[in-house]
Amino acid sequence: MRMVDLIEKKRDGYELTQEEIQFIIHGYTEGAIPDYQMSALTMAIFFRGMSEKERADLTMAMVESGDQIDLSEIEGIKVDKHSTGGVGDTTTLVLGPLVAAAGVPVAKMSGRGLGHTGGTIDKLEAVTGFHVEIDKAEFIELVNKNKVAVIGQSGNLTPADKKLYALRDVTATVNSIPLIASSIMSKKIAAGADAIVLDVKTGAGAFMKTLEQSRELAEAMVGIGNKVGRNTMAVISDMSQPLGFAIGNALEVKEAIDTLRGEGPGDLTELCLTLGSHMVVLAGKAKTLSEARSLLEKIIREGVALEKMKVFLSAQGGDASVVDDPGKLPQAKYTFELEAKKDGYVSEIVADAVGTAAMLLGAGRATKESEIDLAVGLMLRKKIGDAVKKGESLVTLYSNFEDVADVKEKLYENIRISAQKIEPPTLIHEEITQ
Ligand code: URA
Ligand code: CA
Repeated sequence: MRMVDLIEKKRDGYELTQEEIQFIIHGYTEGAIPDYQMSALTMAIFFRGMSEKERADLTMAMVESGDQIDLSEIEGIKVDKHSTGGVGDTTTLVLGPLVAAAGVPVAKMSGRGLGHTGGTIDKLEAVTGFHVEIDKAEFIELVNKNKVAVIGQSGNLTPADKKLYALRDVTATVNSIPLIASSIMSKKIAAGADAIVLDVKTGAGAFMKTLEQSRELAEAMVGIGNKVGRNTMAVISDMSQPLGFAIGNALEVKEAIDTLRGEGPGDLTELCLTLGSHMVVLAGKAKTLSEARSLLEKIIREGVALEKMKVFLSAQGGDASVVDDPGKLPQAKYTFELEAKKDGYVSEIVADAVGTAAMLLGAGRATKESEIDLAVGLMLRKKIGDAVKKGESLVTLYSNFEDVADVKEKLYENIRISAQKIEPPTLIHEEITQ
């Protein structure tokens, strides 16, 4: 086989076979196929697309390019949740203990964040003593015992995707649905998921800005998952404004605890119940979505979710007393209010810009090397559609810097107030199953 012939084949719109895709991914990972040939191929894919079969073959070839986590020693159906990335998205911190309390095994491999705010590990490290540097045997034991554990990324997972993603980044081929879908799905499958619930974000703060694009991506991922024997479904949820109120690591941990207590923000609670119900059904712990939802609501109401959070935190060295006393989480030195300059209704809260404002306070990493300040961030006091009076707080800033003028300015530019009444955005747009 020659790479040049395969580039030509895809350029002319033909379907690549499984052997051809394996040859390409294997050769590229090993270095036998150079970047310039791979660039030509990704551009051909960008314009010609890929069939459902090609996407599934590409996904599995990338899975097989590196290590695969074997979770077979964990009892039950391992359901993973993946979000395509949002601002202040605290769902993982809520869903872990919540669905674990319903008997779903949550074996989460997580990373640190880059940009907006921290990743799940950064957030959890706001709890004194909590650590994810556990070995695989301990990880499996903890999931079997408590139904939930988080381990840091280790091993050589999907090296083909790492190399390909870096190449796509500099060849204007990131934004290709088959390439994005196979990239995301390969990582979930290599991490050992039996079933996958996808939270595809849509709106100004999301990777996919329109509902049409988000639906296309969701359908592509669901198609791949089901073709390779992983029960997969997707929820398309709103990211035109940040989710919940908190953006920042310790602030989001507190928000997750509030939600597990049944006192969380409405949108975060609703999204967690929706995603969680699908996880419970895919894991076979309820027959219908409404049965699953009632189960999760009961778990919250009776305090079982909160207890599970304590067990989860202390099993990995964390100080579980933060659950009853969130004042023990890292606290910022200063708070400032962003006061509304006029009366009206909040019409826009540009999610990614607000995420960047939190990053400027130190809540996120500008580069891989930056240190994160776990205590700082933002609490939204108003969401889209809320009425506001001049002088009322729109946002509270938690900062360790005394001067936050630039952050305030960025927030004023990206939170708009209109004289007309505004409807809040729809939270859950669609649910996509096979
Ligand atoms: N996120 C991924 O993991 N891969 C992509 O290709 C795009 C976004
Ligand atoms: Ca939040």
